Amino acid sequence: MQDKVWIFDTTLRDGEQALKASLTEDDKLQLAHAISRLNVDVMEVGFPVSSPADFRAVQRIANEVQGPIICGLARAVSKDIEACGEALKGAQRARIHTFIATSPLHLEHKLRMTLAEATDMAVQAISQARQYTNDVEFSCEDAGRTPHDDLCYVVERAIAAGASTINLPDTVGYVTPDEYAAMIRYLKVHVSNIDQARLSVHCHNDLGLAVANSIAAVQAGARQIECTINGIGERAGNCSLEEVAMIMKMRQDHLQVHSDIRSEEIYRASRQVAKICNMPVQPNKAIVGENAFAHSSGIHQDGVLKAQNTYEIMSPESVGVPNNQLNMTSRSGRHVIEHRLSELGYQGGDYDMDSLYASFLELADQKGTVYDYDLEAIIYFNQITDKD
Ligand code: KIV
Ligand code: ZN
Repeated sequence: MQDKVWIFDTTLRDGEQALKASLTEDDKLQLAHAISRLNVDVMEVGFPVSSPADFRAVQRIANEVQGPIICGLARAVSKDIEACGEALKGAQRARIHTFIATSPLHLEHKLRMTLAEATDMAVQAISQARQYTNDVEFSCEDAGRTPHDDLCYVVERAIAAGASTINLPDTVGYVTPDEYAAMIRYLKVHVSNIDQARLSVHCHNDLGLAVANSIAAVQAGARQIECTINGIGERAGNCSLEEVAMIMKMRQDHLQVHSDIRSEEIYRASRQVAKICNMPVQPNKAIVGENAFAHSSGIHQDGVLKAQNTYEIMSPESVGVPNNQLNMTSRSGRHVIEHRLSELGYQGGDYDMDSLYASFLELADQKGTVYDYDLEAIIYFNQITDKD
């Protein structure tokens, strides 16, 4: 039996942090429903102490959205935990996620405290959070730049205090996949009570490694991935949900793990996030970009028409994209043009392929992409000139 990897979506918390304009309560609720349709395990929906509007949004989602565990973020301080606990009261299943930085850099310059003092605060926050829920997650902020033995010290005490999920964020997107995997393995060997908690990863994308690092961590034994739809988030963003979900689905044979994400819901959720957050998706973005299932090379188009998996490792339908797209360009061969014309209702006898193809190439050289209406215009024009 393959292990399940939990998907912890933080689009409405870490993702929202990066937006130029904050989302309204209604926007957040609408997105929370879309995220819940994906069947994520946990949905982090805000930072209740940060503002009254955020508190209300978390409260409303906790009351109205069923399915996933609803989670709120709290620093390891009493008023944060209290606000979070209160905001989540209506949830069927609530999680409090508390965190404190553990790296020497953050301890010295940001918190101005020792590791032992930060750990004491973490322990206190976890105990307080346990008064609201049994489901408490603790994060060592900037774990990626924290010495492994320091991490072991904090994590062991956090678990003893009652944290059932331990998250190890690469807050600044600094580490490489092999380093991330080594960190997870080290903790698994050196933390005596590690089996009492689920290990989680939370990767930022500053060096473009967020997805690779998350997968490396899973291969080393992490069983929760924190991610956002379209990879939105602080700076260069977070690990992208659609990418890790499809990696685990498409490469289950190799990774020997699975998630419970309903992949057919991915595209719809991605579109909603892009629209509501006013953050367009780059065309070449894996899985959900406009070009993710578009073929331009004539050789590829011909291959896909003969057998889809020649150039498509997953079907567009599997992620909720209605169909693939064969772009009509000067690289397109006759086969694909005939195919497109037959989809548009034309038969072989309706046009002369040699003259149509010559006109097609001329037009494609001028304007790049030739659209259906261009093809139809060529046929019409050639028919008229033939008669002359
Ligand atoms: O990147 C980070 O470290 C975070 C924590 C609050 C989990 O977002
Ligand atoms: Zn983060």
